[in-house]
Amino acid sequence: MTESHAIESHQHETRRFPPPSDFASRANVTPELAAQLYAEAEADVEAFWAKQAATLDWMTPWTQVLDWNPPHAKWFVGGKLNIAANCLDRHLTTWRRTKAAIIWEGEPGDTRTLTYWELHREVCRFANVLKKFGIRAGDRVAIYMPMTPEIAIALLACARIGATHSVVFGGFSAEALRDRINDAGCKLVVTADGAWRRGTEVRLKPAVDAALEQAPTVQTCIVLRRTGAKVDMQPGRDHWWHEMLETVSDDCPPEALDAEHPLFILYTSGTTGKPKGILHTTGGYLTQVAATAKWVLDLKDDDVYWCTADVGWVTGHSYVVYGPLANGATVMMYEGAPNHPEPDRFWRIVDRHGVTMLYTAPTAIRAFIRWGEQWVLKHRLDSLRLLGTVGEPINPEAWMWYRQVVGKGRCPIVDTWWQTETGGMMIAPLPGATTTMPGTATRPLPGIGVEIRTKDGQPVGANEGGYLVLTRPWPAMLRTIWGDDDRYRRQYWSEIEGVYFAGDGARRDEQGNYWIMGRVDDVINVSGHRLGTAEIESALVSHEAVAEAAVVGRPDELKGSAIVAFVTLESGRSGDDALRAALREHVAREIGALAKPDDIRFTDALPKTRSGKIMRRLLREIAASGNVVGDVTTLEDFSVLEKLRADEA
Ligand code: WT7
Repeated sequence: MTESHAIESHQHETRRFPPPSDFASRANVTPELAAQLYAEAEADVEAFWAKQAATLDWMTPWTQVLDWNPPHAKWFVGGKLNIAANCLDRHLTTWRRTKAAIIWEGEPGDTRTLTYWELHREVCRFANVLKKFGIRAGDRVAIYMPMTPEIAIALLACARIGATHSVVFGGFSAEALRDRINDAGCKLVVTADGAWRRGTEVRLKPAVDAALEQAPTVQTCIVLRRTGAKVDMQPGRDHWWHEMLETVSDDCPPEALDAEHPLFILYTSGTTGKPKGILHTTGGYLTQVAATAKWVLDLKDDDVYWCTADVGWVTGHSYVVYGPLANGATVMMYEGAPNHPEPDRFWRIVDRHGVTMLYTAPTAIRAFIRWGEQWVLKHRLDSLRLLGTVGEPINPEAWMWYRQVVGKGRCPIVDTWWQTETGGMMIAPLPGATTTMPGTATRPLPGIGVEIRTKDGQPVGANEGGYLVLTRPWPAMLRTIWGDDDRYRRQYWSEIEGVYFAGDGARRDEQGNYWIMGRVDDVINVSGHRLGTAEIESALVSHEAVAEAAVVGRPDELKGSAIVAFVTLESGRSGDDALRAALREHVAREIGALAKPDDIRFTDALPKTRSGKIMRRLLREIAASGNVVGDVTTLEDFSVLEKLRADEA
């Protein structure tokens, strides 16, 4: 079923790690509280979520917890609140006003710390800048920025006035940025001159300039000075961040926003060429990300918590910015690469700032393993008390290495399964209560309904593989796909009758642990970044030399999946290394460097069924092993297969 993710079978995993007793007794969720949370959620799931929502500051109370009109949910109907006020203002009336909200380190080694008081002030000022340019509640603002405190400030300033932000990861190209700006109809773009990455400058503003040539809805562009590179500023449209801040007031009352007010759009890859604008709203989203950050990340007032994700991805939205700040935590932020100037940069940061929690991706862990444990062992790391992973299945050996080499066998590991669409964590251990095993995200969190089903919607038995589905609405669920509610219904709620189809294969063991096996659709996970094969195919086909393209994932030790493209050429073109390089560059230009194929194979024809569908399963097998063992009886022309095999040899 999940051919593309042939990670080793975990059926025989027996290593178990119960929470250390000192951790358990001090955890936000002790074993006793865990039992109580599960029982409460079981008894009355709406009352359970209402209790979590009640820990936030509301300006107007809700009148109804859930209005479920499948597949559309409204949570906390009639309630009003402001997310920035929940992440900032409410801490200012406590001792936390002088607590570090953000500790930031730039790649060159420069650092900055902002207290809650200072962060609040900066957010209010930037919100006033947005207002000055006519941005009001409901307007869309694109954010294309480096990992500096200002990206968090930009998000929170939007949230404060009710502008819907759409963050585009800085690694995406001008074309990808343009398409996202246009799809959301953004009025304003926040960017920077550039960012530091592995000692060189990633230029952001020139990409924005190119995007804005074909983005008629954008009236204003605000530019943060980060690298000091020379940039073109278009008079009337472009303004420097620091200049704009000089003249605004630091008083900006938070807007009272409906619980269902659109907080953000975040684009993610699906099974067609066009990325989906996942829409998240206000009250339910904050309820779930704040609660899960507290339960799973065990955030306490004396922690320095570091999630290494870029704010350009959902992990950065939910667990760098909103969840931790709603809990009044101290958040570590780092701008650059993990191996700059040397492969011990992360461990230097942990010791330098006393980081207590590290939440990162399996692909990063696999890179650290490859670089060698000596880089880790050079540093004390005795401040660490909890480790986390997210984004892809973690192979048990990487999990064990993380536990032993980084965590010294002392820190619990939380493997957290969720998606851009789920907004917050769904399956994860409660580190003070759940016994973990390498390779499983363990159990659904309290209030979350998960099952494994067949394609026909039938339940499956223990250890039988199937499709991961969500059986009831959850507060942080996506509300729709921006501008395409039909696709929302089809994509998520029609594949399997009556439930949410996550797109992952999984099995549940006898103890109720979920073992995620990877995507079952045409989405591939490359270094924890989600890409649609169709997106890469349409980028390839837009090159004049290419007639047809089929893209598949191939299991890769480091990246999870590598991108393999099978390409047929227009007549008269010949496939050589120069064309390979040109096609890779072309994909980088169309989407971003993260989508460059690792391997391009020129072929005379692609294997198709009699009805003309490309048989990707065959291509996956050929990419992975050079051979085909599965059923090929529907293949239209067997000689194509022989040819592909021969090319491989
Ligand atoms: C896909 C979602 C969740 C934020 C980052 C990725 C895979 C995510 C895990 C995990 C196994 C995982 C799934 C999922 N995934 N977490 N702990 N174990 N697989 O968000 O880009 O929306 O990707 O990432 O395949 O569907 P995303």
